[in-house]
Amino acid sequence: MSFPAVRMRRLRESGPIRRLVQETDLSSSSLVYPIFIDERIRSPTSITSLPGQSKQSLESLRKEVGSVVSLHIPAVLLFGLPARKTGDGTNSYSKNGILQRAIKVVRENYGDSISVIGDVCVCMYASHGHCGVVRDDMIVNDATLEILKKIAVSQAEAGIDIVAPSGMADGQVGAIRGALDDSGYPQVGILSYAAKFLSNLYGPFRDIAQSAPSFRDRSSYQLSPYNLEEAMREIRLDIQEGADVVMVKPAIYYLDVVREARSRFKHPIAVFSVGAEYFMIKALVKEKLANERDLVIEVLSSIKRAGANMIITYFAKDVAQWLRESAN
Ligand code: PBG
Ligand code: ZN
Repeated sequence: MSFPAVRMRRLRESGPIRRLVQETDLSSSSLVYPIFIDERIRSPTSITSLPGQSKQSLESLRKEVGSVVSLHIPAVLLFGLPARKTGDGTNSYSKNGILQRAIKVVRENYGDSISVIGDVCVCMYASHGHCGVVRDDMIVNDATLEILKKIAVSQAEAGIDIVAPSGMADGQVGAIRGALDDSGYPQVGILSYAAKFLSNLYGPFRDIAQSAPSFRDRSSYQLSPYNLEEAMREIRLDIQEGADVVMVKPAIYYLDVVREARSRFKHPIAVFSVGAEYFMIKALVKEKLANERDLVIEVLSSIKRAGANMIITYFAKDVAQWLRESAN
């Protein structure tokens, strides 16, 4: 043949040339670190279902967030673990609730140096474990909106930057947007769990939160893993209702959803790499079957390559540390 040989390897010869042609950027600026604050503990307590992670107390939270700030991670996602669950989960919006107090602690200590994102749902507070108001063993959508509005406003009063409704109630973004605006919090943003799938990867989280549904499952409100177009409709609706950021969750088996959302919508996209995704990597590493740093960076850069703007991951602090080391 007469045409010159295509040699793809030219651009792989050396480290500098590989850096020059690298298409995806992974930096600590796109990471969000999830933190659990447990009302029943006084000091950090390790989480067996997320090896290497700890729950925080209100007292230890300040130091923990300090380490996140110093790693230049721009946001934390806070989950409250209340001392007691109630029948209806109405303690999710109490002024002195665990999450409301945690938000205040972060706000008062770190001001604008970190964004605080609050989980808005009732499943961690209600004994039935469902993401909404339960009546006659049904999860009632519109009654759920009323409680979600109260949770969002209570978090805004505590100083939240962004609320993150995770219960997949129809109309939750619009309802919360209206409630925040009416209560004088137009500046509070909404990161909506727009495409949250009915996944089997939430086991570690439900173990921590003791939030597994006490009857039936979440299939009447979470998305079927079979459905891509339905996920796109969810995302479109949340954008129309005023979501500032839309989320796809989980991450690694749903990167087609991320890519499709990226090509259809211009909104910022957050991707939640959930507990079991973390656990699976830890299990490989424990058996010395993978290098943790290399595997985690591979997985997170794949999530970014798919089109994520931000990644919520239990590895956030480790990654920020690794990236800092490799920059030196
Ligand atoms: C519930 C909620 C879940 C997660 C965050 N908020 C899971 C569920 O539906 O049980 C999952 C996070 C993770 O698995 O790491 N509102
Ligand atoms: Zn929930």
